[in-house]
Amino acid sequence: MAFPSLLDQLGPEISDPEEETFLLYSQDIPSQNLGFVDPQATTLDLSVAGKDYVIHQSPTILNRPGSTTGAVVWKITPLIADWLAASDNPLWTSGVLSSCSDVLELGCGISGLVGLVLAPLVAKYTLTDQSYVARLVEKNIDENSPLKNSKQTKTTSQTTSQKRKGKPSAVYPNKAELRFVPLDWELDEVTRSLTGSDKVKSFDLVIACDCIYNDALIQPLVQTCADVCRLRASDENGADKPAVCLVAQQLRDPEIFESWIKEFSRYFRTWRIPDSALTEGLRSNPGFVVHLGILRDAAETRN
Ligand SMILES: C[S@@+](CC[C@H](N)C(=O)[O-])C[C@H]1O[C@@H](n2cnc3c(N)ncnc32)[C@H](O)[C@@H]1O
Repeated sequence: MAFPSLLDQLGPEISDPEEETFLLYSQDIPSQNLGFVDPQATTLDLSVAGKDYVIHQSPTILNRPGSTTGAVVWKITPLIADWLAASDNPLWTSGVLSSCSDVLELGCGISGLVGLVLAPLVAKYTLTDQSYVARLVEKNIDENSPLKNSKQTKTTSQTTSQKRKGKPSAVYPNKAELRFVPLDWELDEVTRSLTGSDKVKSFDLVIACDCIYNDALIQPLVQTCADVCRLRASDENGADKPAVCLVAQQLRDPEIFESWIKEFSRYFRTWRIPDSALTEGLRSNPGFVVHLGILRDAAETRN
């Protein structure tokens, strides 16, 4: 099995998604008022892993009809960014993450915060979401990026391969090591062009942070997670190192959670990150959980 030192730190694999739901919802889960940091503010001052960030967000876009939840920052996200930046995080100590890693985030929202924190530590970080977040996430990258005057200087263009017919692909500047690419789980196809490089064919880590809240999105989200991780199978450079998928979420509706973990477990062998491997900020919030998945072999995918 790949990453023995990672699996040693994770405890037992989840064999029964219903039992995992029962265990998680047996604890006292505090109300988090949905989980926004501050849905009224247009800017947030956040301090993560010893650095300060000024994040622009949009209460106006949040209140537009339609699904625009990514217009503001969600509470679990700064905590996950902080945990991912810690050198004793099991992803670093086990070698899943290294300075050579390529990371892709799904549903990043307007802040790009996890990317801002992690990009200086890895080779390349690709933020993705629906295109409505593009303007603000680009602004937040531009104004907060520690790479601004160093690595982050190339300005070639990169698009995702899109299934949408008759609709031109949106093009955003490629900031080299930290960039935003639109990727809609329901509309877009995952291809290796997402890496933004001819030389890189797959990702080491896929992150989804607070993206489980709507039953209709569970199947397309999990399928997208699986499709991104599957890029590794056709990458001869990563044959002995599977892609890892990390899903962080705030526990809300138990039925939504159970639908997600059942669907996720069909494609991924799944572990919950134990409290002992989390930072105090995450540990002290019983409603926040982080799961890690490694893609099952195609023949093993559950029906
Ligand atoms: C609750 S927000 C979390 C945003 C951000 N990760 C955070 O934690 O601050 C959920 C995110 O999922 C994104 N999302 C919802 N449906 C999507 C879809 N079909 N394709 C891509 N992203 C989607 C939203 O745009 C939003 O950014």
